[in-house]
Amino acid sequence: MANKPNPKVVEICKQFILSDEDLKKISNNFLADIKKGLAKETHPEAVVKCFITYVTDLPDGKETGDFLALDLGGTNFRILSIHLENRKSEMINEVYELPKDKIVKTSVVLFDHIAECLHNFIVKHHLQDKLLPLGFTFSFPLVQVALDAGLILKWTKGFDAKDAIGQDPVTLLREAIKRKGGMNVDVRAIVNDTTGTLIACAWKDPNCRLGLIVGTGTNMCYVEKVENAEMYQGDRTKEYVVINTESGNFGSDGSLDFIRTEFDREIDSKSINPGHQLHEKMISGMYLGELVRLVIVKLVEKNVLFGGKSSDKLKTAHSFQCKYVTEILTDTQNTFVHVKKVLEEMEVKHAKKQDWQDLYYICDIVNRRGASLAAIGVATLINKMGFSPVTAGIDGTLYRLIPGFHDQMMEVMKRFVDKNIEFKLMLSEDGSGRGAALAAASGLRVRLSGLLGRFSVEALEKLKLSQLEQCELCWTSGLLVIGLELSRSQTRIYTRPAASRLKWLHSLEELESSYTGWLRAFPSDNVGDRYYVHSQVTTSGIATTRIPK
Ligand code: BGC
Repeated sequence: MANKPNPKVVEICKQFILSDEDLKKISNNFLADIKKGLAKETHPEAVVKCFITYVTDLPDGKETGDFLALDLGGTNFRILSIHLENRKSEMINEVYELPKDKIVKTSVVLFDHIAECLHNFIVKHHLQDKLLPLGFTFSFPLVQVALDAGLILKWTKGFDAKDAIGQDPVTLLREAIKRKGGMNVDVRAIVNDTTGTLIACAWKDPNCRLGLIVGTGTNMCYVEKVENAEMYQGDRTKEYVVINTESGNFGSDGSLDFIRTEFDREIDSKSINPGHQLHEKMISGMYLGELVRLVIVKLVEKNVLFGGKSSDKLKTAHSFQCKYVTEILTDTQNTFVHVKKVLEEMEVKHAKKQDWQDLYYICDIVNRRGASLAAIGVATLINKMGFSPVTAGIDGTLYRLIPGFHDQMMEVMKRFVDKNIEFKLMLSEDGSGRGAALAAASGLRVRLSGLLGRFSVEALEKLKLSQLEQCELCWTSGLLVIGLELSRSQTRIYTRPAASRLKWLHSLEELESSYTGWLRAFPSDNVGDRYYVHSQVTTSGIATTRIPK
């Protein structure tokens, strides 16, 4: 039996091999991009956005209760009901399909589908009578303005409900839930899947400081000092905040061009979002199968594989699924059981033993590059944070299912993580779902700061806080505009432009409860001025940023 790949295959695949010099350069570029994302001055043009998550505390194990979690952003959409108690969780998990026609039309189509599935879940599990706090894992680039609010920056991974860009997914969800009716849920937190993974792993391992996803897409979040997070508008007494780096977009300014292959360029040019998510397109499950297919097609054309004979299926873009790569890589090199099965599915009937070996080799080399790229990113952030011991929580099908993915990451990391840092990679057990529930649990605690976070409009640096008698701040997620008046001893909330006053509030608790009631009491058509407002209000002062839409 052949046990070595064909040298011609090896030659073509060389492009996927990263030297330590390449990895060092990638690490330097990534660190520079992280710093750009964090800094106010360079954030607008940064390709690695480093979004603030408003998660300033990791779970302390006291989180208790029943929660719902929605997980949107992978190949499937999942709903979970989770009971948390004494650092243990019990979960019911249902997976729902996300047909293409639901994800590329409008926000209403997408969110109505989600609400429909949620309704089915609630009815199926007899949860109608309970008021359930909900954590929403939303795994797309989001400019977060509070724990339960944000604005969608762009779609990735084949989603494309264009009108949703610039809207708040929590509002879209709440409205869809209302349209559907018959549900008693309270959306309390929105988290990226990386953040969900970090939170869930930190619940188990208090040294966890980083979350990585290597699944349909890829991304990393990590714990940063508030003093370095210049875009942070929250409570300054907090020392740390979780940063959603959106590292999948790394390289989109050309900084990875020195390692991109002809195949990477082809994938990108034919994708729904050319020029974006270039790092993700070199690593993640959405693109891995297609990368392998493009290499195969080239080798068939060169008469190196399958005796130069292709199949219609092999010629079809995206026909080589990611799961074929994971299956092939679970093969033992002696039997090639999965290679043969995959070739059958690809309608390639004329493969020989050498082809089996070569196909295994191609999958391995392409995937190994992804593992190295993920690893160097994690190593860079671990070195930047400087915690030791430190754990990285990881989720996603590639890390979970591909034998050797963990070891390949470790190999790279051992070479690049500072020698004085002790580190560990931890597989998350259903990270993002449990993490979202934990975030919803803490959402109650931090909701007020979230609310205040929303009102932080700019620059009341300009206003003299000490003289502040009355101040009008506006918030809109596209549908609601409200105003907040503050004086030293009193706070009141009213809608704009009608300014229909609610009542004076004398304590922050009152503000919280009144706000919740208020939001429900006012219909969403009180739209006045439209601003996207990014702000910070604390009991001691206000800082505001007002960005016209
Ligand atoms: C999204 C990230 C997400 C990652 C993993 C990327 O496409 O932009 O927000 O964390 O996929 O799901």
